[in-house]
Amino acid sequence: MIEKINEAKDFISTFTNNKNIDTMIVLGSGMGGFEDNYEPLSQVDYSDIPNFLTPSIEGHAGKLSLVSINNKLTAILSGRAHYYEGYPIRDLVIPIRAFSLLGVKNLVLTNAAGGISDNYVPGDIISITDHINLTGDNPLIGKNLDTFGPRFPDMSEVYSSNFLKLAEKVSENHFEFKTGIYAWFTGPSYETPAEVQYAKNIGADLVGMSTVPEAIVAKHAGMEISAFSLVTNLAAGISKDPLNHEEVVEIADKSKQKLQGFMKEFLSELNSDN
Ligand code: HPA
Repeated sequence: MIEKINEAKDFISTFTNNKNIDTMIVLGSGMGGFEDNYEPLSQVDYSDIPNFLTPSIEGHAGKLSLVSINNKLTAILSGRAHYYEGYPIRDLVIPIRAFSLLGVKNLVLTNAAGGISDNYVPGDIISITDHINLTGDNPLIGKNLDTFGPRFPDMSEVYSSNFLKLAEKVSENHFEFKTGIYAWFTGPSYETPAEVQYAKNIGADLVGMSTVPEAIVAKHAGMEISAFSLVTNLAAGISKDPLNHEEVVEIADKSKQKLQGFMKEFLSELNSDN
């Protein structure tokens, strides 16, 4: 596994001329095209990077862009491969680990999710405070890669409280600050109403099919993490209507400007020297 990660790292380090990269952002559903807000210093398709998986889902371009935000280099990963596409979980997280080896310290994750909390409406952007892994799988299973972190990493604060404070401050300029706990299901079937009720009972506010594997390996590697969900629908049974992917894409498209406006300011603050 470490060989695969190193191959990806070596390719990226040539691609970035060995420059120091401060921040990495993974764009999930609803964030496609965000990279166009910046003048790319360079761009490459995932298919050209060794061991990067190419996403098969619409709206996940599979492209890495290197941009400068407040004079700090930021890697924008447009799209991710998902567990439900059938890939081994440890292959899904190669991009996070490759950038970690390159010294990236800040990680921003985004996703589309179903809302459980009574406090949410479709179109809301939620700052994730914690997660619940309901899949039974974990990207750290197998031989521990000591280069990254210990066998039994602490998960008390996966999502940085500093970054949450920053998200609260930035959101004041855009929308009401809302937080939530994200429950990870494998998908690709949406949850049943009973599963959503179960997730609610154990404390979840959001359900989704991504993000958690990335957050686990990033925390293992000592990165500082923030994650945001765009609520594209109320979860099954909370909404009386059947769920469909087209609705998710439609709300994601409608919320694009709001999400991108917030994210631009958040990244700018993150990359400021204060
Ligand atoms: N469940 C899981 N993943 C999702 C949902 C949902 O309701 N909406 C968008 N992604």
